[in-house]
Amino acid sequence: RARAFASTAAAQSAIRRVAVIGGGQMGSGIAQVAAAHKHDVTLVDVSQEALERGKGYMAKSLGRVAKKKFPEDAQAQSRFVEEVLGRVSLSTDLKAAAGSAGLVIEAAVENIKLKQELFAGLAAAAPEDAILASNTSSLPIARIAAPLSAERKRRMIGLHFFNPVPQMKLVEVVRTDEAEQQVVDDAVAFVKGIGKVPAVCKDTPGFIVNRLLLPYTMEAVRLLERDVASPRDIDTAMKLGAGYPMGPFELCDYVGLDTIKFIVDGWHKEGQGLAGDKLFAPSAKLDELVKKGHLGVKTGRGFYEY
Ligand code: 3HC
Repeated sequence: RARAFASTAAAQSAIRRVAVIGGGQMGSGIAQVAAAHKHDVTLVDVSQEALERGKGYMAKSLGRVAKKKFPEDAQAQSRFVEEVLGRVSLSTDLKAAAGSAGLVIEAAVENIKLKQELFAGLAAAAPEDAILASNTSSLPIARIAAPLSAERKRRMIGLHFFNPVPQMKLVEVVRTDEAEQQVVDDAVAFVKGIGKVPAVCKDTPGFIVNRLLLPYTMEAVRLLERDVASPRDIDTAMKLGAGYPMGPFELCDYVGLDTIKFIVDGWHKEGQGLAGDKLFAPSAKLDELVKKGHLGVKTGRGFYEY
């Protein structure tokens, strides 16, 4: 019992400071949720402009959270938003931010080379006992960790959040073959501590959620290509017939068609055991929309117009 207590206490103290790399929707969401649960957070990006944009995302989302937390008390709402934002420092200095962090979560763009370089830099800067984590949705954690030392690989995992991060309860805790059990346990404790629910899984393509969600999404696109039904009717069917909060086309537009295409193409071409799998075969419809720049909500048009 005493040991369990000691290790829990250690986990809590080890992960007081969190560095989040990447100020996009995911990174700023992760920073926001960690700060809302009393962590000191540094959000890192390459430019002040990107950081300010990330701060804007956080302020907007925190405004929604505050309205529910303190209904009809505008002062308490803005106090809450200020207090949480006050725990997030913005920085373009990756090394300094990682240097004092107990946990570093990378949420940069989905590019393996860039991520490998980032983690090499993080390994050089972060404290020896820091946990290094990637929020990648489709790249193998072990491949991202390839340039790291054996010791660092033992402290590297995946922490996969879902969009919109402040609202979605799940975080996949991805365990590589090298990761130490204590690191997985500490990551699980961190996830619970920020009000989320962990699901631990192995480092395989798509982990749990995307491995199931992407075949479903691609099958919806193929239904459309076969002219079985309109996007609206397919979405209505899955929302009202299967209880999904969004239909597959709404979800594609929400996540970004470029992101969906990037993930399925990657698996279909490079494999990780999925090469050539029909579930992830390219779709002419999806390819055409991406080519035209109709990427979903963010560009004002995807399967729907916004
Ligand atoms: N910040 C804070 N709160 C937010 C928010 C945000 N950015 N976005 C939504 N919310 C909250 C709202 O305040 C509201 O809270 P309440 O229920 O307590 O009042 C709640 O979420 C519902 O929001 P809305 O009423 O505005 O809208 P909806 O009921 O349509 O819900 C949704 C929006 C939560 C996005 C819902 O449609 C949903 O769950 N969609 C599915 C999302 C999903 O599947 N995400 C996973 C995508 S896959 C992924 O991310 C993996 C990646 O690797 C590709």
